[in-house]
Amino acid sequence: MISLDQETKKWLDETLFLVVKKMESVRERSACKIPAVAVKGVHDDRSDESIDWDMDNGINWWTNGFFGGILWQLYHHTKDGRYGEIARVTEEKLDRCFSMYYGLHHDVGFMWLPTAVADYRLTGNKQSRKRGLMAAQFLAGRFNPAGNFIRAWNDNIPGQQETNRGWAIIDCMFNIPLLYWASGEIQDPRYREIAMRHADTAAKYFIREDGSVRHIVEFDPYTGQMIRDYGGQGYKEGSSWTRGQTWALYGFAVSYQHTGKDLYLKTAVKTADRFLSRIPKDGHIPVDFDQPAAPHIEDSTAAAIAAGGLIELCQLVPEKQEVYLNAALRLLKTLATDRCDFSPETDGLLTHCTGSYHGTKDREVNFTYADYYFIEALLKLNGTDFKIW
Ligand code: GLY
Repeated sequence: MISLDQETKKWLDETLFLVVKKMESVRERSACKIPAVAVKGVHDDRSDESIDWDMDNGINWWTNGFFGGILWQLYHHTKDGRYGEIARVTEEKLDRCFSMYYGLHHDVGFMWLPTAVADYRLTGNKQSRKRGLMAAQFLAGRFNPAGNFIRAWNDNIPGQQETNRGWAIIDCMFNIPLLYWASGEIQDPRYREIAMRHADTAAKYFIREDGSVRHIVEFDPYTGQMIRDYGGQGYKEGSSWTRGQTWALYGFAVSYQHTGKDLYLKTAVKTADRFLSRIPKDGHIPVDFDQPAAPHIEDSTAAAIAAGGLIELCQLVPEKQEVYLNAALRLLKTLATDRCDFSPETDGLLTHCTGSYHGTKDREVNFTYADYYFIEALLKLNGTDFKIW
């Protein structure tokens, strides 16, 4: 349990009140959708089940678990059953992904932990347990034992020439908690073994000496040798994509919580300290710490994920408790003051979220997954979050 001073507690109560008030409206407007982005204040819908290979627009989109995740978090916080009813709609729609194959990827942890697995853990729904186990089986099947990594994406999408069969990405640190869950659930060590081998590979090849993080690393899929890295969603090769930095700092903290392996805690601390050393004076997180001064493009998602990870870390590293908690509070208060749309009339909450530095489509928009991490971090501070990862 985090202890907060009176002023911060008051701020937290007021902020959570605004969030819940907004989400009571949003949940009804978006009850039949799986939203990824709010466009001009209105949630889009990625639940088109007829698109089976386009990862960007269809039911396979990697963020399709986060609306369900928001609903289950608020179900847990408020005890209002309506959140659970709507979350189940999302969960059932995702079933279609299992029969598609081509469009499915390593992001099944992001998709099924906040939906089916959350449902199972909160309500005991047996069908949800099966969904979670199927997703874990799928993720385990992506493991390449030659290089001890989980392959990120498929390359058999019509029209795509390049091969990415040796690619692993830092984001996967948030998918492997599905494997820890499955191992515990059915007492089968294989899943945990795969998760730990992947995490060991990530700690070795993705984290640079200075604590900054690579987004994509390519391995030879036959020998496991590292070939090269890519800038991915960041500014360029060798730069520091901020969201990737937060997938690492929070993701390694979660792996430590599941395994107790010291390397993971050290890696979480190293990446967190690097992140803290580079936060700009105004507290607004850029898409890449190494991006040029102009154009200034932000990613509030990175701020929200970092805050959640720092709240976990402040409880794991007593000697740095104050530093990490204060940093998390500063990030969250800056978001709440400057980068939140609390209006119940609009669907998106966090503003200034960006998919990738060079992408023009999702630049400084509202993302459902950013809203998820912001809400999750507030609930962590309040002691009413539900442990999804
Ligand atoms: N998992 C992809 C991203 O962070 O954008």
